[in-house]
Amino acid sequence: MIYIKTKKEIDLIRESSRIVAETLQLLKRNVRPGITTKELDQIAEDYILSNNAIAAFKGYSQGGSSIDYPGAICASIDEQVVHGIPGNRVLKEGEIISLDVGVKKDGYYGDAALTVAVGNISEEKRKLMEVTEKSLYLGIEQAIENNKVHDISAAVQEYVEANGFSVVRDLCGHGVGKHLHEDPSIPNFGKQGTGPKLKNGMTIAIEPMVNLGRYEVKTLFDGWTVIATDGLASAHFEHTILIFNGQPEILTVV
Ligand code: MF3
Ligand code: CO
Repeated sequence: MIYIKTKKEIDLIRESSRIVAETLQLLKRNVRPGITTKELDQIAEDYILSNNAIAAFKGYSQGGSSIDYPGAICASIDEQVVHGIPGNRVLKEGEIISLDVGVKKDGYYGDAALTVAVGNISEEKRKLMEVTEKSLYLGIEQAIENNKVHDISAAVQEYVEANGFSVVRDLCGHGVGKHLHEDPSIPNFGKQGTGPKLKNGMTIAIEPMVNLGRYEVKTLFDGWTVIATDGLASAHFEHTILIFNGQPEILTVV
């Protein structure tokens, strides 16, 4: 079921999304060679708690046998696509790190992600990051009233593939707000003009995950970390957006 949010709910999602965006900017300023992903996790959680909010990913369960997610954020380095668990790994110059933050405040959620360079990176990784971020904005442009969900998907896929990269098939964007993950599912590939119709009052998370090489992914034995099977780098950008007055409004901005 796709929820249409009331004015009051939208204000709460706006507030959670603002905290998400501020947390991501704070993390971005702290990314440098020598810092561990656990330190980034701590910085994020402290900031979220200081805003009377909680880190929405912590304790999250996918169901089945997997363990509850242990981190406040996801920190996914190089070939790690998403859901990298923060730990003692030290960031090194030349890596790229995808940081994903979810916040719950007063019962409502915001969710966003970005990929950051650690010092100087290769031209190839730079282009991967640029194309992934641009594909997110092209997807957002399609999030207008009476368009279909797969208009977003097709816009993302077309741009990514025209640039020689591939979109991950096994993970999708999603509705967000009353829950971290709601309907509709928003794939990053698909056929224009298909899928559920977009309406005013919907809040959705659009999140292209783009691989430098092939699109296949697998999950590590920790039950969470998703990596590109070919071992090549991957990037991830995400925003929570609201469809209002027929148009997309990005909520996860500072
Ligand atoms: N933004 C990611 C998603 O929508 C983060 C989920 S991490 C989890 O899937 F731990 F909460 F699952
Ligand atoms: Co998400």
